[in-house]
Amino acid sequence: MTKYYDEFNVERHFDNSLAEKYDRRIRMFCPSYDALHRMILPLFQGLPNDAFFLSSGVGTGAEILSLGKIFPSWRFIAVDISTNMINACQDKTAEAHLHDRVTFLHGRLQDCKLSRPCDAASSIFVSHFIKCREEKLSYFRSISANLKIGGVLVLADLFGDKTSSEFATLMDVWLRSYALHGVSDEELMNDRNHVNSDVDFITENKLILMLDEAGFAAPIRFYQTYLFGGWVTTRVV
Ligand SMILES: C[S@@+](CC[C@H](N)C(=O)[O-])C[C@H]1O[C@@H](n2cnc3c(N)ncnc32)[C@H](O)[C@@H]1O
Repeated sequence: MTKYYDEFNVERHFDNSLAEKYDRRIRMFCPSYDALHRMILPLFQGLPNDAFFLSSGVGTGAEILSLGKIFPSWRFIAVDISTNMINACQDKTAEAHLHDRVTFLHGRLQDCKLSRPCDAASSIFVSHFIKCREEKLSYFRSISANLKIGGVLVLADLFGDKTSSEFATLMDVWLRSYALHGVSDEELMNDRNHVNSDVDFITENKLILMLDEAGFAAPIRFYQTYLFGGWVTTRVV
């Protein structure tokens, strides 16, 4: 077992009843969370009416809930390593009458080979939890392997150069923005520790190189809020 797995287990983290709290807490962490999910919609316009879409690290289903309403003939593959999150996603898509268009897969994307390639994919706030470079690359390669050539990927993650003064400033204002929700000092300290130890910040340049290695075109950054970034790219090889 690797050191990383001993220290932070993403499956256990998201399984630990987090799904119940996730939808509230993510909006405290990322003040433009709903805007991000609205901003991705036009990035997928122009795909076929019967497109097949991969939501990797689907969580409670935000991507499917917004895309499913706008694109009524699309079908979705929802992949998540956490039972708790995928169960919450099943409940939410059922409530929104979308579940008959969704196939749910419980497990790591790296272990999934889909029966057919997808027209597009999203990975929102997932890969920043994958610490080892090889594992992160393997994750991006799995997205690429499950996309058609020319398929569109929208990726969003925490990013930045931890040694830069820009990073320190953005981290500070980000945590201040989070604290404005009235979180206790203890909760703020726990969350600061969680971000410091469990998030693998990489620079945009390293991300671009890794996406290139995984078969993607140079990504375009379309979104930033504090240390959260969002990019769109396509599979080229
Ligand atoms: C922060 S949540 C994001 C959920 C959703 N995409 C959103 O925008 O709210 C990250 C999710 O990715 C899942 N996850 C992490 N690593 C994964 C992997 N390698 N394969 C599949 N799911 C993964 C976690 O279990 C968690 O549900």
